[in-house]
Amino acid sequence: MADTHGYGAAVRTLAERGEAARQRGIKALFEGAPQRFDAFSAALDDLTLDYSKTALSADDREALFAFARECGLEERRDAMFAGARINATEGRSVLHVALRGRPEDNYEAAGVYVGDDVEDVLAAMTRFSDGIRSGEIAPARGGRFTDVVNIGIGGSDLGPVMATLALAPYHDGPRLHFVSNVDGAHIADIVRGLDPATTLFIIASKTFTTIETMTNAATARRFIADALGEGAVGAHFCAVSTALDKVAAFGIDEARAFGFWDWVGGRYSLWSAIGLPIMIAIGPDRFREFLAGARAMDQHFKSAPMDGNLPILLGLVGWWHRVAQDCPSRAVIPYDQRLARLPAYMQQLDMESNGKHVGLDGERVKTPTGPVVWGEPGTNGQHAFFQLLHQGTDVVPVEFLLGAISHEPELQDHQDLLIANCLAQSEALMKGRTLEEARQQLLAAGRSADEAERIAPHREFSGNRPSLTILYRTLDPFTLGRIIALYEHRVFVEAQLFGINAFDQWGVELGKELATGLLPVVRGEASAEGRDASTVGLVNAISTLKG
Ligand code: F6P
Repeated sequence: MADTHGYGAAVRTLAERGEAARQRGIKALFEGAPQRFDAFSAALDDLTLDYSKTALSADDREALFAFARECGLEERRDAMFAGARINATEGRSVLHVALRGRPEDNYEAAGVYVGDDVEDVLAAMTRFSDGIRSGEIAPARGGRFTDVVNIGIGGSDLGPVMATLALAPYHDGPRLHFVSNVDGAHIADIVRGLDPATTLFIIASKTFTTIETMTNAATARRFIADALGEGAVGAHFCAVSTALDKVAAFGIDEARAFGFWDWVGGRYSLWSAIGLPIMIAIGPDRFREFLAGARAMDQHFKSAPMDGNLPILLGLVGWWHRVAQDCPSRAVIPYDQRLARLPAYMQQLDMESNGKHVGLDGERVKTPTGPVVWGEPGTNGQHAFFQLLHQGTDVVPVEFLLGAISHEPELQDHQDLLIANCLAQSEALMKGRTLEEARQQLLAAGRSADEAERIAPHREFSGNRPSLTILYRTLDPFTLGRIIALYEHRVFVEAQLFGINAFDQWGVELGKELATGLLPVVRGEASAEGRDASTVGLVNAISTLKG
């Protein structure tokens, strides 16, 4: 059981419930309960969250609702939508919801209406994307752009990478490429296949100081200048940032600089101008559908009662598994190949938001906080790590994502197999196979009694392993918008239950500072003296290897 000492009666009670639920298991809850799916699922139109294959009873769920109220979840949600400065350590509002709002939503950041600014940038992005897509905005030497390379990292990369793959069937603009890693191999491998004369670079960085992005941007600049001359740089670059002065200093014209604001966190920024590559790929109308999907989820999160509110339910179940059932990780398994980059996107969204050990009160938290999030698409995962999910010593709650209708009607047999596999996995995790069933199967297959006795324990599955399923009609821009907003709000909900600020990321700073200090050492311009023995040893070994 999680250590909840000192956290309060509600958490202690929920931890006891979590332990009792573990003893009771999940299978028992389905016995004599043909309505369990109806009672433990919720939907927003065609988007359904099934959380029936968890150990939650109706009483456990009520206790979670009471805990959410005690944490002031609804008040804090309302404060976020109202533009209060809920990112207390940075003194900022948290208003990514305004990026997909309509004028009537009246979003204000700390009392200042932001709807016009948002619309102005969207209009500028639309003009630019249309120009690139139609060929009206042309390369320096004429013709049209065939390839667009987005240079960014973290929130300035993961969202556009994930979304352009997810929406591949709607991609009718130029080819998209993404460079994020400072490892020169990344940009080298991307530009090797490109013609500089028809390539546009987007430099995407909220701060416009991130060393990886600035290093890659400088290399890209040389790629264009060496091939086409310095004068061509202006035509082949554009930028997205909150720091437009730094964009200008880089030499990018203000007409090609798309801004956003400090009330948009990096990992919540794909709805802003950071989404420019998505808009160039699928066109402004589809991009607006993507925003509309997210807004539909915002409206739902704002107004649906707790027992039918998808982000709240997803967050409560997430908290239950993490704290009341002490599961340190969760797997996100899309049975949708085009969501292959969703787990990576979710790692930043969730782990950079909720990987904290200090609460809003400045004290060390009393319960575990955000879990390790990981995953790969099914069915591939089945042939890699599902062994551990089914029979490993740790219980890992799984979140399946599944579309009913694919974009390939001519390959319906593939889709049916995909769906059957997804349902089979959640069924197997929950039901398992008893020792006796394993023994009987072996005997039925003609094994001797001795052999059956010896092998059966290896073929037993404990079952009672929880999973959730998020089901949708088809992965179109509107649905992708709903899914991403669902997960954003889920992370918010869990943060309120943990009592932490989901919107800062001080934990990434130390490594950045140390890297800056180590660079001259690695270059041989400064001594490693005074550093720890391991670092000194590695620096010396690297220098020997370099010769
Ligand atoms: O890794 C830390 C981080 O600050 C992320 O939060 C952010 O998304 C990423 O770096 C990139 O930052 P920027 O967009 O400012 O280049």
